[in-house]
Amino acid sequence: MIRESSAIVKKIRELNVEDEVLKALGGVRGACEFKEVGFDRLTKAQKKLVLMANEAKEKAYNPYSKFYVGASLLTESNRMFPGCNIENASYGLANCAERTAIFKAVSEGFTLFKSLAIVTRGENFEVEEPTAPCGACRQVINEFSSLAGKDIEILLANTKMNKIVVTSIRELIPLSFGPSDLGIELSQYKR
Ligand code: THU
Repeated sequence: MIRESSAIVKKIRELNVEDEVLKALGGVRGACEFKEVGFDRLTKAQKKLVLMANEAKEKAYNPYSKFYVGASLLTESNRMFPGCNIENASYGLANCAERTAIFKAVSEGFTLFKSLAIVTRGENFEVEEPTAPCGACRQVINEFSSLAGKDIEILLANTKMNKIVVTSIRELIPLSFGPSDLGIELSQYKR
């Protein structure tokens, strides 16, 4: 299945040739294909991270959307920080699970991250297609990828753990705006 909304992908859909195009790409990871991996193929750390995100989503404070999001962040020093979405009666103040996990880690003294897992569900429905991080969270993840000078892996899983997408922040936010655009030196913040 091709999952991207660029003009090229729209055209591919219009022409109803998704299968042919995917076959022609032959597994090449490009603009319109994301890598899927079976749970068993994940490393021990990746499995733990995904399961932690799955657990974290149940802590969601979500009276308005009733949407459960769990994230779990792996630091360079192999610590894991889980986070959930936290909503507010003033709707726009909701904090996403990804940012909760990141802010928890930063406020505990960790700023270098290797990997982030995300798992979601609805109140009365399972999510079949793994949920990707929103634009605001991508920007925040990008900040810490710039700080580390490295890409950050992103694992997106459904609750059944039968669909896991392995991607990365560079893949999810190409041509990004970041600290280097402001000429900011970050090394003192590496922790
Ligand atoms: N949400 C997240 O926690 N992460 C995302 O990347 C997308 C959205 C939350 C915010 C809100 O609590 C609920 O999901 C519905 O938007």
